[in-house]
Amino acid sequence: MAGNWKMYKTPAETIAFFEAFRPLAGSAEHCEVVICPPFTNLTAAVGAVQGSNIRVGAQNIAWAKEGAFTGEISGPMLVAAGCTYAIVGHSERRQYFGETDATVLKRTLAALEYGLTPIVCVGERLEDREGGRMEDVLKTQFAGGIAGLSEPQFAKIVIAYEPVWAIGTGRTATPEIAAAAHRTIRAEVRAKFGHDAAEAVRILYGGSVNAKNVQTLMAQPEIDGTLVGGASLDAASFASIVNF
Ligand code: PGA
Repeated sequence: MAGNWKMYKTPAETIAFFEAFRPLAGSAEHCEVVICPPFTNLTAAVGAVQGSNIRVGAQNIAWAKEGAFTGEISGPMLVAAGCTYAIVGHSERRQYFGETDATVLKRTLAALEYGLTPIVCVGERLEDREGGRMEDVLKTQFAGGIAGLSEPQFAKIVIAYEPVWAIGTGRTATPEIAAAAHRTIRAEVRAKFGHDAAEAVRILYGGSVNAKNVQTLMAQPEIDGTLVGGASLDAASFASIVNF
């Protein structure tokens, strides 16, 4: 169960969140719990989760180790800050910051190289879904952003299916729609990496997940976890999701 805070919270607000969240979900063992705050809060978050089962992730990762890449943060920097996860290819990065399937693959490879678990995001836009292109989009994103990994590399990633029309809109995909998309992705995994890889890979659903709809989503056997934006900003709400 991963929380994506996007561009919200200061370090002080981060510490306050974990003071409230830790007693509610800090010793969860039924799932991995990850919070991905803004870069400027990573140190505060890592300090605040010490001694708990909560892990900290980044929302993006540079493909290079270091260099003249103004505004980017590299894998070694994230590792030094205490991160163990990195979200890659979020639709907001694709939409506003020119992220492509090719750069998603490069960032995913960088995360793996430095020992971070990438949470690789895929998902179709509203016009794709309405135009009947959901499967094609997922297949293209898989082919360009994920299929370039080796089998051992693939075994270390987490995939997040986030239909763009459901992100921050209050419009959750129905559990059936989400499950169908997860089946499409898993079929691509099976074709490329084999049956065992398809069974083993964790595919998260993201898009307006909250404490009310998490149970029906998680009741779908295809859905292995959730990537939560808005509802992860509140400690009680994200704890209810973790403890669904
Ligand atoms: P949301 O965001 O839960 O606010 O819809 C999900 C995400 O973008 O990861």
